[in-house]
Amino acid sequence: MAQYNIAVVVGSFRKDSFNQKLAKALQKLFPADFSFTTVRIDDLPLYNQDDEANPSAPVKRLKDEIKAAQGLLFVTPEYNRSIPGVLKNAIDHASRPYGQSVWDGKPAGVIGASVGPIGTALAQQHLRNILAYLNVPTLGQPEAFIHNKEGLYDADGNIGEASRKFLQGWVDAYVGWVKKHV
Ligand code: FNR
Repeated sequence: MAQYNIAVVVGSFRKDSFNQKLAKALQKLFPADFSFTTVRIDDLPLYNQDDEANPSAPVKRLKDEIKAAQGLLFVTPEYNRSIPGVLKNAIDHASRPYGQSVWDGKPAGVIGASVGPIGTALAQQHLRNILAYLNVPTLGQPEAFIHNKEGLYDADGNIGEASRKFLQGWVDAYVGWVKKHV
């Protein structure tokens, strides 16, 4: 049976991040042929084009992990109606040098949790824009805008009853999307 490794990119490294929690809980809804590498982005330097010829170890690691993945899963907060700068920084690093983007062609899912009711809708839209330019085919439907509210998780940190059917449907669509593109 084919195996699919997914690079998970979370746009927050806050200790109690809702998006990290969501990323972990989602992984439990996947079938056994999917595994995950959570890509570290908190030690990346700020992108500087002067460094492209001599990338630092964290930049090399990021690119290797993305290269090795069959699919991408972006789980991001919304900051000021867009994506966090730390996520854009990681995307920019792995998109260069020109013509050597490691994102190219990797199927992606975009999801995010927010304290507000619009659940990262605008951040996701901005992210889709960037990914379209990078030739990353992104699952369009269903959309998933997660409001981090009471009952989203059960006591064990799994997706709670009220949201499980919807998020299982999202995961199933994402699994189909990855398999279609690999
Ligand atoms: C936010 N937050 C926020 N929420 C939202 O729904 N739309 C927004 O535009 C913003 N903007 C914003 C900017 C900045 C700088 C911060 C720090 C926060 C609130 C955000 O949803 C909340 O802090 C989440 O907890 C962030 O996700 P993590 O870190 O819990 O994963």
